[in-house]
Amino acid sequence: MAKAFSGIQPTGQIQLGNYIGALRNWRPDPGSFYCVVDLHSLSQPWDPKELQENTRSTAALLLALGLGQGSHVFLQSHVQEHAELAWILNCIGRMGELGRMTQFKSKGRGHQDASVGLFTYPLLMASDILLYRVEEVPVGEDQKQHVELTRDIAERFNSRFGPVFTVPEPRIAEVGGRVMSLRNPLEKMSKSDPDPNSKILLSDSDEVIAKKIMTAVTDSGREVAYDPKEKPGVSNLLEIASTLSGESVEALAARYRDGGYGAFKRGVAEVVVEALRPLREKVEALLADPEEIDRQLEIGRAAAEREARPMLAEVREAVGLL
Ligand code: TYM
Repeated sequence: MAKAFSGIQPTGQIQLGNYIGALRNWRPDPGSFYCVVDLHSLSQPWDPKELQENTRSTAALLLALGLGQGSHVFLQSHVQEHAELAWILNCIGRMGELGRMTQFKSKGRGHQDASVGLFTYPLLMASDILLYRVEEVPVGEDQKQHVELTRDIAERFNSRFGPVFTVPEPRIAEVGGRVMSLRNPLEKMSKSDPDPNSKILLSDSDEVIAKKIMTAVTDSGREVAYDPKEKPGVSNLLEIASTLSGESVEALAARYRDGGYGAFKRGVAEVVVEALRPLREKVEALLADPEEIDRQLEIGRAAAEREARPMLAEVREAVGLL
């Protein structure tokens, strides 16, 4: 049972890719920490009221998944050690390596009005992970590069100042590590995509989920087959249904092969609707009781601080801060 850390930004609403690529693989093991990374959400323009709402609903989702029992759920900004370690790691990370991060390249590079936080963001992420001495970081494919940077930073720090940090490994699901947009299966599904039909939100009703899947872009031809290169739209739906039902993509493809896209999409919609409904109902129940959410987050904060405090003290001593 490896100790894990992972985080999710409360920017916009949580979508199916977050669930399949990350949340579903977060295990409630003792010693594991799961964090709503509200400070990360400040790296792009934000609305304070929306941030508050999204932070609470994202926390409710993690609690509804049972991650507050056994493992710990907390808010990044409640544990000040994250921001302090981030400064120290800002002085270890290098301009060149941060400039190579594909997320920065796609969102920030060349934009004079992009925030400095968008550039240094991966070092705050490295701080999140390294404070908890974890072995594993369960994430979607798009965060792999950031976890690899975290490894480089930890190794550089350890070779300069002694063996302070545990060097973590990314853990990425073989199927579902990159869920694609329903409107353009060559792009990943993303919270920030302005087209509501490109993504399924975990808060969507059964009807909305079914409608979005029925109108998902599929490929030319009629045959249902798993072929991410030639049939990216169909393959994406097969991966979604496979991860949520536990059936292999091959078995699903065989069942729907000659029935046409309509019957296939109805089958996928049913799987998604059935998988998300109980979770949505739990989240709604929790959101009706914000005090209970805050109470559980306070328990998580205390547990996180117990780990993060001594870790940061070790770092401070190693680098020569009095
Ligand atoms: P974020 O908030 O963008 O996404 C949260 C998690 O969801 C995964 N994900 C996907 N997986 C599969 N298919 C998709 N279409 C898809 N879209 C998102 C992401 O890979 C991620 O695992 N920087 C991180 C948050 C973070 C973090 C951390 C993660 C901050 N500190 C420490 C791990 C450890 C982010 O923006 O994720």
